[in-house]
Amino acid sequence: MLWKGFLVCAALLALAECKAARSVGHEPRKFPDGFLFGTATASYQIEGAWDKDGKSPNIWDHMTHSDPCLIKDCSNGDVADDSYHLYKRDVEMMRELGIDYYRFSMSWTRLMPTSFSDYINPAGVEFYNNYINEMMKYNITPMVTLYHWDLPQKLQEMGGWTNPNIVDWYADYARTVYSLFGDRVKFWITMNEPNIVCYNGYGDTSMAPRLNLKGVAEYLCAKNLLMAHAKAWHIYDEEFRSTQGGTVSITLSSTWFEPEDKNNEDHVQAAEDSNQFDWGQYAHPIFSESGGFPPEMVKNIGAKSAAQGFARSRLPEFTEEEKAYVRGTSDYFGLNHYSSKLAYRNESAYGYHEAPSFFDDTDTVSYNLEEWKIGESDFVKVTPWGFYNILTKIRKDYNNPSVYITENGFATLGGLEDEDRITYYRSYLAAMLDAIDEGSDIKAYTAWSIMDNFEWMQGYTERFGLYEVDYSDPARPRTPRKSAFVYKEIVRTRTLDFDYEPDTTVMTIDEGH
Ligand code: NOJ
Repeated sequence: MLWKGFLVCAALLALAECKAARSVGHEPRKFPDGFLFGTATASYQIEGAWDKDGKSPNIWDHMTHSDPCLIKDCSNGDVADDSYHLYKRDVEMMRELGIDYYRFSMSWTRLMPTSFSDYINPAGVEFYNNYINEMMKYNITPMVTLYHWDLPQKLQEMGGWTNPNIVDWYADYARTVYSLFGDRVKFWITMNEPNIVCYNGYGDTSMAPRLNLKGVAEYLCAKNLLMAHAKAWHIYDEEFRSTQGGTVSITLSSTWFEPEDKNNEDHVQAAEDSNQFDWGQYAHPIFSESGGFPPEMVKNIGAKSAAQGFARSRLPEFTEEEKAYVRGTSDYFGLNHYSSKLAYRNESAYGYHEAPSFFDDTDTVSYNLEEWKIGESDFVKVTPWGFYNILTKIRKDYNNPSVYITENGFATLGGLEDEDRITYYRSYLAAMLDAIDEGSDIKAYTAWSIMDNFEWMQGYTERFGLYEVDYSDPARPRTPRKSAFVYKEIVRTRTLDFDYEPDTTVMTIDEGH
């Protein structure tokens, strides 16, 4: 079997360094001792029960109910995978896969329907207690995301992440969750993918609340969100760590930007700036020595704002005290990574995007190549070399932090024979092993997702699951795909074997799970 990823890589060799090519071959590769495997989901994408037992609406309930066909298939998360009722089956699937941990998120409005800590909803607490306890019964470690995009609608009406008061509102929520579940939960993620929250939700129309207040609101959101994350980390550190002994961090979305031409200095700078805007925006304030937003952002946005006639930079500043407050607020680096783009800068890049806007502020143009597509879905392009490159840059730029891969995965349009997903997983795991071989301190890998779920604006059209979910059946049956059997074998043997062909006739739970 020739590894398809190699072809993808070969197509790119003239343009970019293609490290993952080194992974091609049939030799099985071992994962380091103690390396952990998991899968992930998020509350709005799986739970359903959108208004059951006292839960109040969040921004996704509000948006999908007000304008259903903003979502590709006019669907919503009202029922989704119905995990609110089927959580025992979810845990059974975790046992079938043999995973070490499970990453899921809690719904703010299920636990605190008023948005505030004046009232804690007992039914919400009971649901998450049941979910956690069921996992722990089988030695599956819960990893909890506090915020995976489902902001209380009431807080949105008060400005959401652009209102600085959200730092306290979020901190109250975090404290409540630590005190309710921290006796058992030791892995916390404060926020999932802040750049998607702020850019797509506030600077664009591609995620709720679709504010499209370009070049201003996404930056206000970014600062408040970072301050809220930092406050939640400090609260844990000061009030809970000594008794609960857990770890807290943030999970960043990351596209890798590769220069279109590595010998062209402008392209190299364009790629670097794009990386800084995309994920450095959140990594630099927390993981760098100097703190605050990346210098590339401060410089570009400051100069552009002045030229555009703004009274001050559209990028809010951190005071020295705030920089110090945010810096170091992570016990590990949480990374979500799926794909890459090529970036360039020439005369045509200036004025290419509407201004003011996040993309205009980068002065770069980026795109991906058709050759990077495998399978029917266009959603995730296959660029394992980008995964290697970003892991290497994180090691070099931030003094080799411990990295938890909190998401990585591939979309198909459905079907149980998902060879393309298997190709994707194997090529990305190989690229990750290359980075580990060179010294990156990567502790864990999380497959997105254990099962199909509500894929935001794509509804149920794009499928990320190791298990297929049948949405035409009210019982929401879950059936393992071929990739589930392959992942199970990787987890069981702690080995990446490119040639393994599973028997997909029956899924079992191995002894000890
Ligand atoms: C990132 C997000 O965290 C998750 O919610 C989403 O479903 C996956 N990427 C796939 O797009």
